[in-house]
Amino acid sequence: MTAIAGTPVVNSWNEWDHLKEVVVGSADGACFEPTEPGNRPQVRGREGAPFPTGGKSAQAVAQANAELDGLARLLESRGVSVRRPGRHDFGRALRTPHFEVANQYCAVCPRDVMITVGNEIVEATMSRRARYFEYEPYRHLVYEYWEADPRVGWTVAPKPTMSDAMYRQDFWEWPVDERHRRMHSSEFCITQAEVVFDAADMSRFGRDIIVQESMTTNRAGIRWLKRVLEPKGFRVHPVHFPLDYFPSHIDCTFVPLRPGLVLTNPDRPIRQDELSLFTDNGWELIQAPEPVLTNDEMPLYCQSSKWLSMNVLSLSPTTVICEEQEKPLQDLLADQGLEVLTVPFRNVFEYGGSLHCSTWDIRRDGTREDYFPSAVYEPLV
Ligand code: ARG
Repeated sequence: MTAIAGTPVVNSWNEWDHLKEVVVGSADGACFEPTEPGNRPQVRGREGAPFPTGGKSAQAVAQANAELDGLARLLESRGVSVRRPGRHDFGRALRTPHFEVANQYCAVCPRDVMITVGNEIVEATMSRRARYFEYEPYRHLVYEYWEADPRVGWTVAPKPTMSDAMYRQDFWEWPVDERHRRMHSSEFCITQAEVVFDAADMSRFGRDIIVQESMTTNRAGIRWLKRVLEPKGFRVHPVHFPLDYFPSHIDCTFVPLRPGLVLTNPDRPIRQDELSLFTDNGWELIQAPEPVLTNDEMPLYCQSSKWLSMNVLSLSPTTVICEEQEKPLQDLLADQGLEVLTVPFRNVFEYGGSLHCSTWDIRRDGTREDYFPSAVYEPLV
């Protein structure tokens, strides 16, 4: 990797251009996510059962790593340069002036914390205590890219306190009918008092970036992103999926595949007034088929839904990687004219993500384009 005239070493403007370099996560040292104000992990199908604490078993780690390594090999066989996170002691407790937490989480999902926005790396604030230092396993790479090419930008979002006051505890107690009643208010387990976002709530479409308001990203976080990115020529659009009562990370809900085509989640339609951005600009939305696994069949400790099925990784506008057993989705994508590659990945589900979550694209071909020429946009200033 050398800095040459031509494509900067960090260059990724959307989710689909030809992939050249990517970070693939690792389960090394992974721990169970602790119960904390922003997260109430549950053993699947056993409400109230105590959720395990401390480190994951050696077997669970080895099984996830085998699949992550398999993804890395597939990517390399396609000419993609693959990088991995550094070591981090996730078993270590954290104590800051504002909170304590018994252990940290893992580096399986770089997507959640790191994002490439054009030629710039942005580190998210994060929204959970156990993930406060999750940028650290990637810092050796950030420094490498930043030193290698003066065109590479690096922006670190302000760290929130994650004190009790940042969270809304009663959120967890709301019965379903109350969630339904409040579905348009976009109030979740974080308040608006501080800037909060996870990188995985964003999806990149050239000069336009959509950001989901969620349990992991608040309106202050979206304002911060607008204020930082608008002067650099981006347009930041908040988006909402009102029927998702526990929204977190957009990549199992609304997944662009190539210019003009988005894979959508039939259980979570985009808010009606936000749909026109896509339909007015000639985009087609296609619904993902029912996943092969039901929610009840997802791994016992997995906190994500069956819709991990649609968490695909694009290698180019014509090639996509899909989980090996998701045949209905593979068929749909093939019908759209895509070349579909597959890898087994179900042992990674326990760590909250699938193929898109467990990667962070550093370099793709291409440049900033306008895919929404007739968008109506109100900048902050
Ligand atoms: N909340 C999503 C769901 O359960 C999972 C999102 C996973 N994405 C990620 N980047 N970790 O459907």
